[in-house]
Amino acid sequence: EKGGFDSFMDKEIHDQPHAVADTLLGRTDAAGNLVLDDLRIDESVLRAVNKIIVIACGTAAYSGHVAKYAIEHWCRIPVEVELAHEFRYRDPIVDERTLVVAVTQSGETMDTLMAVRHAREQGAKVVSIVNTHGSTIPRESDAVLYTHAGPEIAVASTKAFLAQITAAYLLGLYLAQLRGNKFPDEIASLLDDLRDMPRKIQTVIERGEYVRATARSMSDCDKVLFLGRHVGFPVALEGALKLKELAYIHAEGFAAGELKHGPIALIDEGQPVFVVVPSPRGRDSLHSKVVSNIQEIRARGAHTLVIAEDGDDEVRKYADEVFWIPKAPTLLQPLLAVVPLQIFAMALATAKGLDVDQPRNLAKSVTVE
Ligand code: F6R
Repeated sequence: EKGGFDSFMDKEIHDQPHAVADTLLGRTDAAGNLVLDDLRIDESVLRAVNKIIVIACGTAAYSGHVAKYAIEHWCRIPVEVELAHEFRYRDPIVDERTLVVAVTQSGETMDTLMAVRHAREQGAKVVSIVNTHGSTIPRESDAVLYTHAGPEIAVASTKAFLAQITAAYLLGLYLAQLRGNKFPDEIASLLDDLRDMPRKIQTVIERGEYVRATARSMSDCDKVLFLGRHVGFPVALEGALKLKELAYIHAEGFAAGELKHGPIALIDEGQPVFVVVPSPRGRDSLHSKVVSNIQEIRARGAHTLVIAEDGDDEVRKYADEVFWIPKAPTLLQPLLAVVPLQIFAMALATAKGLDVDQPRNLAKSVTVE
């Protein structure tokens, strides 16, 4: 069943190019327009949406956090991302013009289900992004957009995360198309970029041995920090979550811009810090800001492990280790940058002799509150 891999998690990491490709499959018509057949919500309702709230837990919430950057950019609709268990208990502002997007691999997470019910009672339409057919949350939603990642067995989510980002991006592009925020050729070109991702994800996986070797050499570390900015920020949060749940190591993700507002005090000699570096070709000089962060933490003794784009010569000068990923548009980089972090957590847990498919205290689907 593990298809020759040591663990389901390893297999599912290797499944990721397919998870993304299959989630993209069959979403355009002969004219190249995006069609989301399963999204049975009246177009007039979708045109009138003035706010999107993504509700989810854990890794699924981080995929929503990534999608927020893309959907706001493409559609100019404000997007909030809220942990499902926080959403229901804070009297959220939700009405008929709110589109709630519930993201869940299992489709059974009780916190997310309760939030879906609450949102619908307030008159919101709910689209769920779900991996498991026949589960409860899609049944209780107005519409469902399935991720086609295939069954995810390992407790720690990997391929579902990439498929969730892909599906949320499709939803964002669909809304942009419907509401006229983007020209058809812009949408077509963004879809082409997305369709190019499985090949690039495969490249990152093929480079995994260097990540594994690095993880093995760090099996005695007890605290790891992760920094990212823009879409790299939720990637940092996800990298930290993977390490906590698999290797039982204290790990924390930060927005790189927050460093000087506190977390830099954590840095001392030898402290491992992962940094997700934005593309040097991206806008707003984000790249140079993150490179400065690397210099700042390195000057204070950090051991910097950097995820950077092929050809990023600037980073090479300042990083202790670089995990290279292929070039991609900024908004698509999370689909690549998270992969070395997944492999790192898996390899480090394995080096510690832990069961990566079944970490202690955790269940695959959390059907209690
Ligand atoms: C982390 C992980 C959990 C789930 C969360 C939501 O690796 O697996 O954080 O992402 O429990 O589960 P679903 O997506 O089934 O609602």
